[in-house]
Amino acid sequence: MFITLEGPDGSGKSTQAQRLAEFLRQQGCPVLLTREPGGTPIGEQVRGILNNLDNTAMHPRTEILLFQAARAQHVEELIKPHLEKGDLVVCDRYADSTLAYQGYGHQVDLAVLRQVVEYATGGLKPDLTLLLDVDSEVGLNRRAGGGDWNRLDAYELAFHIRVREGYFQLMKAEPQRWVLIDSNQPPDDVQEKVRQVVMARIEKRKSQIKLRD
Ligand code: TYD
Repeated sequence: MFITLEGPDGSGKSTQAQRLAEFLRQQGCPVLLTREPGGTPIGEQVRGILNNLDNTAMHPRTEILLFQAARAQHVEELIKPHLEKGDLVVCDRYADSTLAYQGYGHQVDLAVLRQVVEYATGGLKPDLTLLLDVDSEVGLNRRAGGGDWNRLDAYELAFHIRVREGYFQLMKAEPQRWVLIDSNQPPDDVQEKVRQVVMARIEKRKSQIKLRD
């Protein structure tokens, strides 16, 4: 089963993903915990290029393709082999991040992005995607560690609001894959909800497999 965590910056995804993976391992499930961009040696090198603040000349198309390059490697080298072994894969961000950030955030043509994403993933889709949703101002403040607002923050706020709205649109289009989790709550409460949703989905799958056998 392939589980992804998505959400705007500052939604606490990374911590929640780590705690979820620990919990699932305690339940006896073999788990691969991974993240995007990154996850593999090549992917982490690409992450370095994407995060390097000296790369101010990076064209938006270059950025989009670098995210997909890291993703293609991730899918083939790590995600697929683990799924084939029967492991649970928990991934902090995946293809929906490209649609939300580059598509809705930076307003790149969604039809084009869907094609590039399809090519990068070879069509591999998550079985379950948790949307850790947080109010945009709360998310930005968490990320910046609080502090005063300035003009740049206001620009960023508009971007983040588009990203958040984008996630809602993606969720609306595929309601069976997505589960919304309110991440404005204290982290322990969020984790509790995350565990409930994932365990319910695992149980459902087990009973479907039994019925098929
Ligand atoms: P990261 O340091 O992983 O931040 P976070 O903890 O919020 O996940 O940086 C990932 C950043 O890259 C984040 O702002 C989202 C963005 N991103 C995209 O714009 N497109 C993508 O396809 C992916 C995977 C991430």
